[in-house]
Amino acid sequence: MPVLPDPTPGKTDWFVHDRFGLFIHWGIYAAAARHEWVKNREQISDEDYQKYFDHFDPDLYDPTAWARAAKNAGMKYFVVTSKHHDGFCLWDSKLTDYKAPNTPAGRDLLAPMVEAFRAEGLKVGFYHSLIDWHHPEYTIDRLHPMRANEDFIRANQHRDFSKYVEYLHGQARELVTMFGPIDIMWFDFSYPGPGEGLLAPGKGKDDWQAEKLIALVREHMPDVIINDRTQIPQDIRTPEQVQPTEWVKVDGKPVIWEACQTFSGSWGYDRDNLDWKPVPMLVQMLIDTVSKGGNLLLNVGPTARGEFEPRALERLAGIGEWMRLHSRSIYGCTQSDFAAPRDCRFTQNGKRLYLHVFAWPFKHLHVDGLAGKVAYAQLLNDASEIRFTEEGDRLTLNLPVQQPNVVVPVIELFLK
Ligand code: GLC
Repeated sequence: MPVLPDPTPGKTDWFVHDRFGLFIHWGIYAAAARHEWVKNREQISDEDYQKYFDHFDPDLYDPTAWARAAKNAGMKYFVVTSKHHDGFCLWDSKLTDYKAPNTPAGRDLLAPMVEAFRAEGLKVGFYHSLIDWHHPEYTIDRLHPMRANEDFIRANQHRDFSKYVEYLHGQARELVTMFGPIDIMWFDFSYPGPGEGLLAPGKGKDDWQAEKLIALVREHMPDVIINDRTQIPQDIRTPEQVQPTEWVKVDGKPVIWEACQTFSGSWGYDRDNLDWKPVPMLVQMLIDTVSKGGNLLLNVGPTARGEFEPRALERLAGIGEWMRLHSRSIYGCTQSDFAAPRDCRFTQNGKRLYLHVFAWPFKHLHVDGLAGKVAYAQLLNDASEIRFTEEGDRLTLNLPVQQPNVVVPVIELFLK
């Protein structure tokens, strides 16, 4: 078996077993419906962004429906944006008025979500933005929506970032004390670097007082999993919108890692985006991730009516159909030391080796190095035997001409 990562501060056994989670990016940017960075991309002032706050009324919001869609997709945990970069808060924070209860939604939207997902057996994670483009003390830097408005910058030179940091830490304390046991705190993101002209510098671990922030979180939730984007590595590394080519390493050592991915390239609801990944690609991404010892956190950006859009529901259902038959080739599995044939991936859980076939070959699949090591082989989808021959160190699987009617066929190999 592969070299395992060193222990980390948080409790990660469940995480590396469960492998598959739902990311949720939801906030008033869903009303703009053109990416969660819309305020930055279009350099929208607070005044002009206020219309999304004033019209945010997710009347169809049903967190139980969300939780069931995730559970049926085979997802075992979820991470939701408590606050994104625009500063809007989903919960009834006592530290700001810029929150869901003060929109036409008229209520805390986070508490019922946590309750619904817990009721369906999923573990709970909060994505919390370190960045805040609404807070009056957040200094105007190269990412701020008002970065090109010199009059605004000049009028806001007095901002005291330490007051924002107090707010940041205060809200982190709310998140780890108001919602019961939290399993993941997913901070996002640091961007250190000098200021330019009137623009304030970027922000990194010292600016956030990240050491204190992490200590605060762990004081309340010692086992919580914390990511790496405060710039102080904790439990998991978080490659984003890419598929690593191998087990993610830091200083040459394997680490616990989670790739976060979208259906369409946008995290927040993006109505006119047509770049939606098809189900086979999404299933292959999940398999590829686990074959390299990682987790997949797959994102949905709900609409401002409070629903997962049909394109997301279709994909979650398609992934769920594959997971219904194949989840034991994902849960509890990790990278194998055996080398998979071309267009295939291996995942392994002890004496069970799973051969995921991305391109179904004609009649034979040759696996070097496996001869003499396999007691039995079957198609996982219907437990039908796959017979094999051996010559030298090569094991040759005899396949039906017809690919099984599943998006990615898997052959379950029972090792001796
Ligand atoms: C990037 C984006 C942010 C998104 C995050 C998800 O940091 O800035 O919008 O929430 O990726 O990993």
